[in-house]
Amino acid sequence: MPRHVAIIMDGNGRWAERRHLPRVAGHRAGAESVRRAMQAAADAGVEVLTVYAFSSENWRRSEEEVADLKGLMRYYVERELETLKRERVKLKLIGEPGAFGNDLYDRLQRAVAETAANDRLTLVVALNYGSQAEIASAARELAGKAARGEIDPHAIDEQAIGSLLQTHDLPQLDLLIRTSGEVRLSNFLLWQAAYAELVFTETLWPDFDEAAFNAALAEFARRQRRFGGR
Ligand code: IPE
Ligand code: IPE
Ligand code: MG
Repeated sequence: MPRHVAIIMDGNGRWAERRHLPRVAGHRAGAESVRRAMQAAADAGVEVLTVYAFSSENWRRSEEEVADLKGLMRYYVERELETLKRERVKLKLIGEPGAFGNDLYDRLQRAVAETAANDRLTLVVALNYGSQAEIASAARELAGKAARGEIDPHAIDEQAIGSLLQTHDLPQLDLLIRTSGEVRLSNFLLWQAAYAELVFTETLWPDFDEAAFNAALAEFARRQRRFGGR
């Protein structure tokens, strides 16, 4: 069983287009899938579920779509807070969610604070997240420390960088799932995925249900992890 599963939740737009619906309808349906995945992960005994909700590149979308996504995040954090509490799920954020404005940011922080003591599952939501920016920020911090003489540049190793990433307090990533048939990482958890098992499925995110989640877990169980050994 993987301890830490991450999902690139892709395909909301295509799901809506196939139904001749506006893209926002796909995002709305996708938000329901998040709750299902959370439930499936908790039931399966996964410790951490990390979901890519908005990338640092998603600002390239139309103003309208970005506003719709922000509206959904706001709605979701309000409505799902009770679910998180009931299911004993702890919410954590990675990325730079401050960019969505104070109102949403404050609501998110409140949800993080109110679920901090929960221990059944940790749901990590990546909001305005970009893996390269995350790594660059760690490098900047280490360079600053080195310039101030606080650390020896030669002592900078994988551990030093990993401990400055936003995922520093999470177990190593075991399984990374991407839906919708795209086979790329789109700037998600590049460092953390070093030895993750990758599962790509054609299923569009709004159609991704408990059975699909369990199928990905079964695929993971069939993999032989070697970590460079034999
Ligand atoms: C993923 O679905 C959700 C976000 C990126 C916010 P998309 O909106 O990327 O859906 P497609 O790829 O256009 O189908
Ligand atoms: C990745 O999906 C980001 C999220 C799922 C939030 P995209 O749909 O933005 O990725 P690309 O543009 O197809 O690589
Ligand atoms: Mg997409």
